Amino acid sequence: MKRVLSGIQPSGPLHLGNYAAAIRQFIDMQADHEMYIFVASYHALTTVRDPKVLRDNVRQVVIDCLAFGIDPQRTNFYLQQDVPKVTELAWLLGCMCPKHLMDKATSFKDKLAKGLSASIGLYTYPILQAADILSVDPDVVPVGEDQRQHVEITRDLAEKFNAAYGPVFKIPDLKIREGSGLMPGVDGQKMSKSYGNAISPFLEEKALKKVIMKITTDSKGVDEAKDPETCTVFQIFRGLAGVNDPRTAELAERYRKGGMGYGVAKQALLELILNHFGPARKRRVELMNDPGYVEQVLRQGAAAANAKASDVTARARKAVGL
Ligand code: TYM
Repeated sequence: MKRVLSGIQPSGPLHLGNYAAAIRQFIDMQADHEMYIFVASYHALTTVRDPKVLRDNVRQVVIDCLAFGIDPQRTNFYLQQDVPKVTELAWLLGCMCPKHLMDKATSFKDKLAKGLSASIGLYTYPILQAADILSVDPDVVPVGEDQRQHVEITRDLAEKFNAAYGPVFKIPDLKIREGSGLMPGVDGQKMSKSYGNAISPFLEEKALKKVIMKITTDSKGVDEAKDPETCTVFQIFRGLAGVNDPRTAELAERYRKGGMGYGVAKQALLELILNHFGPARKRRVELMNDPGYVEQVLRQGAAAANAKASDVTARARKAVGL
């Protein structure tokens, strides 16, 4: 059985982009893979400075993931902070990492451009991510398009380490869900937990509708033919429904024909979200009322991840001469 690892940062409420590109892949893979999915709380420290906000975000992301359908019977689900060996591994990898590899990381530049402070943590973020990944010897890392470079850096670092010290790390493959590019947010930029442009499927119906109605469109009138490919509403719809889903083809057709205003397309998106996440919304309320269960899930997940991380770290320590 192939082993899978991926992570999600608790830097704000989960959104449709996280679900469509990442979490849905995890749920599909649970059936026939050995799964390690974690909440990247150390990584969130690069952006979240308020301890209460961090604790609340971690709790919320955990509950949301379980509500979406991450199944603790089939997935080892844990908090990064409960597997501190990854920070030791990050040090060993960092000592092998040429500085230029970090200089070319696009997410650091993007975050600076958004006004985040340039801490060393933010700069070396991809090294910690490489440690997360390599700590359980996974075969495959399913992520969204914006994490492609981080997985490539991981492979690169593991190869450098192996070339210097022998075969310590397994080199994992990257997996990006077919047809899922980056999902745009309500402003047409990449949907992000920290850009204020995200759509959370767990919002109250009224609030959800308000956010969807805010999605920017061009100013074409009802009767005019419209191009679905350049419309943010359509892109979000397609990301969630799927490229090959008949509802996507049908909506595209209505765009091209004319006679449908953007308000109608937005209503279709709202209904899609409410239908798709109906069961998850119910489960989420149950989970919020059962903190004991959630804690037990995380404890069990951390035990499995720690066992793997201890083996891998011991191998790496021995190889470098510690
Ligand atoms: P994060 O928390 O930003 O995102 C979690 C997952 O969601 C995907 N994603 C998107 N996909 C499509 N469209 C979007 N607008 C969009 N926004 C986010 C991401 O690609 C990701 O798969 N650095 C990681 C967390 C991490 C990690 C890891 C991931 C830490 N260690 C090890 C994999 C393996 C991050 O910030 O993801």
